[in-house]
Amino acid sequence: MTEITGDAERIVAALAAGGGQLDPYPLYAELHELGQASALTSGKLPYAAAAYGYRAVDQIMRDATFEVHDALRLEPMSPTWREHPVLVTLMNSMMFSNGDRHGRMRALFRKVFTPRRVQEMEPDVIAIAAELLDRIELLGAGGAEVDYMAEFAYLLPARVVGRLLGLPDDDISWFRAQVDVINDWLDFRRKGPEVLAAADQAAADITTYYLDLIAQRRAKPEGDLISDLTRAVADGTHQVTDLELVGNLLVLFNASFSTTIHLFGNALPLLLGSSDGRAQLLKDPAAYVEEVLRYDTPAHVFIRLASRDTEFLGVPLKEGQLVAVLTGAANRDPRRFAEPDRFDPDRPDNQPISFGAGAHYCLGAALARTEAQLALPMVVERFPQLALGSEPVRTDQFILRGYKSLPVTVSSLVTAGGSADASG
Ligand code: HEM
Repeated sequence: MTEITGDAERIVAALAAGGGQLDPYPLYAELHELGQASALTSGKLPYAAAAYGYRAVDQIMRDATFEVHDALRLEPMSPTWREHPVLVTLMNSMMFSNGDRHGRMRALFRKVFTPRRVQEMEPDVIAIAAELLDRIELLGAGGAEVDYMAEFAYLLPARVVGRLLGLPDDDISWFRAQVDVINDWLDFRRKGPEVLAAADQAAADITTYYLDLIAQRRAKPEGDLISDLTRAVADGTHQVTDLELVGNLLVLFNASFSTTIHLFGNALPLLLGSSDGRAQLLKDPAAYVEEVLRYDTPAHVFIRLASRDTEFLGVPLKEGQLVAVLTGAANRDPRRFAEPDRFDPDRPDNQPISFGAGAHYCLGAALARTEAQLALPMVVERFPQLALGSEPVRTDQFILRGYKSLPVTVSSLVTAGGSADASG
């Protein structure tokens, strides 16, 4: 534990404040000078400690003493939580469960969401990417700017997870709107009553939608994940209620596109900002994607709660106290990654902690990697003239780091005389 707790407080407060994630990396570098983890004792932040070293982050995520928020913890804090559909739905998911309940739900999803299923999704990923690139070519004809975030980085993972679950493509934009409202409420800073009311409505609508779809697939199974889930529950090996299915489907859909969108987004400026970016990506897409996940990861902060009085790397913690787990910082830990602020797809033993570790390790890591490894090369191969356009707009969240919009051009500017401008 560092003695200079005041510094850690200042840095974590700066990260959590508006704009803190616009450029967190100098702040992470300062944290690494303090060690692996620090107590945050002023009481001004909701967290009693922060874990930011790679070893500390890995250790805390694997340690069952540290739990995620669940219904049991919520009860004393918010006895009326059952009146809020958004809380009920989330608390019914593996992301907000611990121990046996978590294991029971996760086992069902692992049974049907297998590496083989991810492999079977590969033709879908390629087909969806090709379709989106066709549209971008049309939109970008004559040098017009296209928003890569809206037209590709979001649509690709959203359509892929829609295909996985068996949701019609036409329903995806409705889903995104609902999920965005819930994400607004989930982000630590936006918790006003109107934000909660909107999130409640969105969760209630999604629940109705999914319950209906589950009933349809139960009556007439198809080749999608929801059909497989209902079949696995029906054969009696997995006891998961319909409302638990809904909670997990909600977090799965949400967790899949709201993170992968930023893997695609954060990769692009890196690719285009370096003279050998394209060649490096095409040489070894897997290594390239892994380095994007390390260097500019989509999800930077997770929360753990001490399930009893304990000590973590010298930091004393009382039962119920929160620890901010900074995965984005861990990926830049100089003790784990040589020259951590250098983007280097060739770095040896590159194992970023971007998908977490331990019991809650990302269920969709293989799918996210597959999407990026297949689709990013398609983007650069399709558009040799791809270039960044006008000023991008960044998101301003504490947890997720990425772009709201990222204008690009994909073809040369057509001048008034009709000839292509080679510089465009
Ligand atoms: C680049 C993209 C992604 C990143 C960076 C990411 C990151 C993470 C992380 C760090 C966790 C652990 C959370 C914790 O320990 O509290 C997690 C959990 C989870 N992720 Fe992902 N994820 C990504 C894509 C996906 C995709 C594509 C899916 C689904 C298709 C998905 C589904 C989930 C689920 C269901 C959990 C909860 C697992 C549990 O609580 O047992 N994620 N993700």
